[in-house]
Amino acid sequence: MVKLNRRQFIVLSAAGAGAALVGNRWRKGTISSQPWSQSSANLTPLYQSSNGLLELDLEARESLVNLGVRQAYLLTYNGQIPAPRLEAKPGDKVRIHFTNNLEQPTNIHYHGLHIPITGNADNVFLKIEPGEKLSYEFQIPANHPSGTFWYHPHLHGLVAEQLFGGLAGLFIVRGELDEIPEIKAAKEEFLVLQDFALDDRGRRSASMHMSLMMGREGDVMAVNGQVNPSFDLPANGLLRLRILNASPSRFYRLALENHSFYQIAADGNGLNEPIEVSELLLTPGQRADLLVRGDRAPGQYRLLNLPYDRGSMGMMGGGMMGGRGMMGRNSDRNAPIPLATVDYKTAVESLSLPTKFASISALPEPQTVRHFELNHGMSPGVGMAFLINGEPYSGDRLHTQVKLNTVEDWEILNTGVMDHPFHIHGNAFQIISRNGTPESLLAWRDTVLVKRGEIVRIRIPFRDFAGKTVYHCHVLDHEDLGMMGNLMIEA
Ligand code: C2O
Ligand code: CU
Repeated sequence: MVKLNRRQFIVLSAAGAGAALVGNRWRKGTISSQPWSQSSANLTPLYQSSNGLLELDLEARESLVNLGVRQAYLLTYNGQIPAPRLEAKPGDKVRIHFTNNLEQPTNIHYHGLHIPITGNADNVFLKIEPGEKLSYEFQIPANHPSGTFWYHPHLHGLVAEQLFGGLAGLFIVRGELDEIPEIKAAKEEFLVLQDFALDDRGRRSASMHMSLMMGREGDVMAVNGQVNPSFDLPANGLLRLRILNASPSRFYRLALENHSFYQIAADGNGLNEPIEVSELLLTPGQRADLLVRGDRAPGQYRLLNLPYDRGSMGMMGGGMMGGRGMMGRNSDRNAPIPLATVDYKTAVESLSLPTKFASISALPEPQTVRHFELNHGMSPGVGMAFLINGEPYSGDRLHTQVKLNTVEDWEILNTGVMDHPFHIHGNAFQIISRNGTPESLLAWRDTVLVKRGEIVRIRIPFRDFAGKTVYHCHVLDHEDLGMMGNLMIEA
């Protein structure tokens, strides 16, 4: 394995730099289109558990769907973009009768859920061939946190392509957090953020080599499969936004004009109390629950996606490239993009924010400390690859072995030129420090951003479920190109 330094990497990558990506022509349409009516913001079908059972048929197939102002051929679950929302409670049984009618093999990962990682549950090593069926069956533990989780395909090598095709949906666990009176009184909305690259006829555009290295992004930005939908905010009231970044690579840096966010949950877990923030960065895979107060002048306010620089292979420290990368979307790269509109509606009786509502306790000291270095380089027979500790993913190697019922610290160091959001399957963790600075916010997460040059220390308890699973970068092209490891949790 030859590791490349930054300069070599840039030179090698430059060959692909001329490859044109998706043009900007749709972005204009995105900005100028009118918000959709409230009713259309909630078209996503919903399946809820009853009598302790959530059971449904789910079919993956290509479908022609309406995506805001245009039609597109996308990869869907049950013909829907985003996929149906699933809702269950702690203790419920889940049975999903899945049929693969894609032209490729696939499977399903239940991102963030703490459920078995073997058998027909959250098992990413299952491979369901085209035309085949498989019934997923698992139970959500009775002490499972309530929160915003999601499901998407996870067959190594095809993950980014299948997510970019549209395959993603919310999996909500209803419980304690939803019963807090102030949260219960808030108006609840779900926002599934996706981006797509389409040609004139609504076909998915092929991604060029360079965009794969960077992580593919598209210029059609959809919220719940719509362009700039509108969400009602009762004046004096509270709006609860439950947001999922289901894009394979795009980072969202969200802000609502004239309003703060009060974050009440990170990934699938409640915080101890609401945290006021003026903007929120969501990497691929991450979720956040936010409260918005209807305490401004009634009107329409735009939910904006602000520019964020996650690094690029064309970056030369802000020198030659003018800090712009070579991705062909330089022109309006620094302009905020409206994603949705929040619209004041009839006043309600004034609602207050919740105060303290959870008690997350810090984890005990770790039994083991491990180190992971994220980078990229050449790999024999693979070409340019994304690496963890100098190695690209290999299906038959056990990269990390841990013991059930132990606590470990993982130190994740990013020595590459791009940001990498690091995700571990099956068990949530706490952030201990970033670049040696102790993390002040105590929270459970399943995906953490490790910026270029950064070292992040996390603490993970391995609980309840033994077996083999994975950890990886959630820029899914990086994962497909090797930035993943097998994790064996030994009973
Ligand atoms: Cu959301 Cu391993 O992924
Ligand atoms: Cu990455």
